[in-house]
Amino acid sequence: MMEWQENGVAHTAHWRSESGVAAPVRVVIADDTLAADDAWRLACEGTALLWRGDFQNARHLLEAMMRRVERKPRHGSRKARDKVASAAQTVDAEADVQDPAAAFHRHRLATLQRARTLGRVLIPLDGDYGIPLRRAPDLRAACTEVWGDADGQPSVVSLRELLGLIGAHQWRRKGIELLALGDAAGRSRIHPWYGVFSPVRGEYIDLVATVPMAEVDLAFDIGTGTGVIAAVLARRGLPRIVATEIDPRAVACARENLARLGVDDRVQVCETDLWPEGRAGLVVCNPPWIPARPSAPIERAIYDEESRMLRGFLAGLRDHLQPTGEGWLILSDLAEHLGLRTRAALLAWIDQAGLQVAGQHSVKPRHGKATDPADPLHEARSKELTTLWRLTAKA
Ligand SMILES: C[S@@+](CC[C@H](N)C(=O)[O-])C[C@H]1O[C@@H](n2cnc3c(N)ncnc32)[C@H](O)[C@@H]1O
Repeated sequence: MMEWQENGVAHTAHWRSESGVAAPVRVVIADDTLAADDAWRLACEGTALLWRGDFQNARHLLEAMMRRVERKPRHGSRKARDKVASAAQTVDAEADVQDPAAAFHRHRLATLQRARTLGRVLIPLDGDYGIPLRRAPDLRAACTEVWGDADGQPSVVSLRELLGLIGAHQWRRKGIELLALGDAAGRSRIHPWYGVFSPVRGEYIDLVATVPMAEVDLAFDIGTGTGVIAAVLARRGLPRIVATEIDPRAVACARENLARLGVDDRVQVCETDLWPEGRAGLVVCNPPWIPARPSAPIERAIYDEESRMLRGFLAGLRDHLQPTGEGWLILSDLAEHLGLRTRAALLAWIDQAGLQVAGQHSVKPRHGKATDPADPLHEARSKELTTLWRLTAKA
């Protein structure tokens, strides 16, 4: 619950945070009269701003606060400031090359801190998810998708999270076209739900669609997310696939996608930790690839503390493969370039699991960040490769 005083009266409302942020303790009421500089200062000090003004003005205020995140200090001439900033950047860049893991943790902490500060503009919601503000959009459908049916209780959410929810609602409606999924009926879209890993960087999908595959009667897709890999395997003609997933929202998302694509008669989705019963001729897994603690549940598809899912997959693979079966591990090596995991450790886990590498197929990521020199992790990202490791049981 969140508590605050308004016009001398104590109020409470349900606090909503998908990113796992605690309910704010210091809250002031804010409206269109609040200047962006003051809003930014209050937010930096840890004070949340419960908005009572015009909804669109709250959006503008947030944009103005975002611009302040990047603002350089105001001392000295512009030329002098640029010179200082550029010298500092050179020192930072050199330190980052020396210790990429420290650079990664610093960058993550800064991103988290910025998100917390920007998340302090708050929007009230009525018991039916209506927004009691001027010029507010009707977000009841988007909210119901993420939080389930409204319970009649008023609640409060950060504007930033609400905007993320609108984006997710649009992605879910529109879907992402993946050529590897196309069938005669023109069904080729995956519709990601809020918080479910979206295959928007599709190069690993092309690997799953094209790497030579033996004829098998049963495949497992471990950690299916939207169901995309299971769907590609079904399109490749596999008669039976069991897909597993630990996140209930992803399970529902995968089931919906597989039904839309018309392959749900061949794919069964189970909510389970890693493994289904039995052994398969092909086992595919695209685990989270950064060994670091997720800062919120919605980060669990990317961050995996101590590589738990990766190691669990490797350790259990042999016992879930048919004698001549193959495991396909899809893994980015970004963690290696960031100094968070070594290639030697990965190869040791494979070996200790009684497995051997039967082949490797690699692709370079095509997404914008991979080639953006302004990205703080550019050095590591520019070297990133995603590899499909073909693993078999050692004799
Ligand atoms: C990188 S995402 C990949 C999703 C999907 N396979 C794809 O390729 O788009 C990793 C997925 O593994 C799921 N996951 C994480 N730990 C798991 C576990 N122990 N058992 C099953 N699934 C898990 C996550 O919820 C997430 O959906």
